Amino acid sequence: MSESLHVTGNTREEQYLSLLPQIEALAKDKAAKWAVLGNIMAALKYGMNFFWVGLYLVKDEHLILGPFQGPVACTQIPFGKGVCGAAWKNKKTFIVQDVNDFEGHIACSSATKSEIVLPIFDKNGEVIMTLDIDSELLTNFNETDEKYLMQVAGIIEQVVLGE
Ligand code: SME
Repeated sequence: MSESLHVTGNTREEQYLSLLPQIEALAKDKAAKWAVLGNIMAALKYGMNFFWVGLYLVKDEHLILGPFQGPVACTQIPFGKGVCGAAWKNKKTFIVQDVNDFEGHIACSSATKSEIVLPIFDKNGEVIMTLDIDSELLTNFNETDEKYLMQVAGIIEQVVLGE
């Protein structure tokens, strides 16, 4: 498989549409799941030019840092804490337009201004990880991101839960 990534499009939506088939191709790789997830994080970060992209994995009462791309990040997030913990606890996507307005936001980097976090579920509807994407820009995420990142979350679910 080609290891190069090529994203085209002027709008965010066009860029997601260009990137998604490439992420699907990466997901078909039968290598170790963590290798595949690392590649998907790299494709999202570099394909969409985000500041930080990563997965936090549910382990007991914490989220533990998993495959990611970007600056050094917090390694443990307690249940319900921060945006990631809120997405886990509430089983829903959070879009935070200004992290300073989100009570309990965990600042892994002072450069992060806005973020989107999507829960990823197992077959029983339990959250097994969160997909966290951070931006250096305020109000950088909206329903378009949610729509396409939900598709990415679905691909990640298949990678994690697949045999
Ligand atoms: N800001 C996140 C923590 C993770 S880092 O940004 C990479 C949060 O509040 O959950």
